[in-house]
Amino acid sequence: MKGILMAGGKGTRLLPITGGVSKQLLPIYDKPMVYYPLSILMLADIRDVLIISTREDIVLYKRLLDDGSQWGLSIDYAIQKKPQGIAQGFLVGKKFLGTSSVCMVLGDNVFYGPHLEPQLMKAKNNASNKQIATVFGVSVNNPQQYGVVGFNEHNTAISIEEKPKHPPSNVAVAGLYFYPNSVIQIASKISFSKRGELEITTINQQYLYQKALEVVPLGNSFTWLDTGSPESLLEASQFIHTIEKRKGSKVACLEEIAFEKGWITKTDVLTVARQMNRTAYGQYLINKYL
Ligand code: DAU
Repeated sequence: MKGILMAGGKGTRLLPITGGVSKQLLPIYDKPMVYYPLSILMLADIRDVLIISTREDIVLYKRLLDDGSQWGLSIDYAIQKKPQGIAQGFLVGKKFLGTSSVCMVLGDNVFYGPHLEPQLMKAKNNASNKQIATVFGVSVNNPQQYGVVGFNEHNTAISIEEKPKHPPSNVAVAGLYFYPNSVIQIASKISFSKRGELEITTINQQYLYQKALEVVPLGNSFTWLDTGSPESLLEASQFIHTIEKRKGSKVACLEEIAFEKGWITKTDVLTVARQMNRTAYGQYLINKYL
């Protein structure tokens, strides 16, 4: 399975902050936002990653993430000429994907919670071996702003709508999706929505109608953080700060994940850590691995 990380878009909801910088490079407490979704791909054991962004911003991602080998990854880059929808990522990434199944993660989605890895592995297996897509549902208080799942009386998903005025439930679809390779074919056939985008929700509807979509609830102990407004951005930073301080461990520490996965050595970790030894991030790695 390969990974696609969507880091394009206009970031208009965060102006003027995003006037000079890509949204997904803004800090969430002590690290760039993009570290969080990238860490999710790594936790899913995905090492081939395509970062998709705009022509102007792609160079910034290259500067930050390079070829990914410092984390035992292989990172490629592709330009989305216009922000014409999340589902366009499968068309931009068609060559990169080849015949692989795919996990797509949105560059502005931050996840924190227990027992995520088994869920990721199951979703991966669904996509790679059973031709079944998986999305994750999270209860929110503002479902109108997301893709929303409707359920029947047996709690089976029967509909998915994008930003519905009258949401059928409060279960939003998080920005983490697992698909078989057939998603490329599906993405090439869907039409642009009224707002001029190839919607990820249209893709999910197709799998739902084919009875090939699993909607996995991320329970109440799970936190899915919004980063769409200045206030939610601040709250996300405060949340990560609180968790890291209380637990004495880091969320989305890419060197730590890569080392625990056996993709890089202690020497590799310490080389990076020493370059950052004036920061709490660097000190954390030095204290843990020296
Ligand atoms: O966050 C989850 C939600 O993400 C889902 O519940 C929705 O179904 C899904 O449509 C999406 O909604 P948003 O309105 O939050 O999407 P947004 O346009 O903000 O884009 C999400 C990320 O994808 C963001 O990091 C920018 C990137 N993106 C977006 C578009 C439209 C791209 O890279 N290219 C694009 O063309």
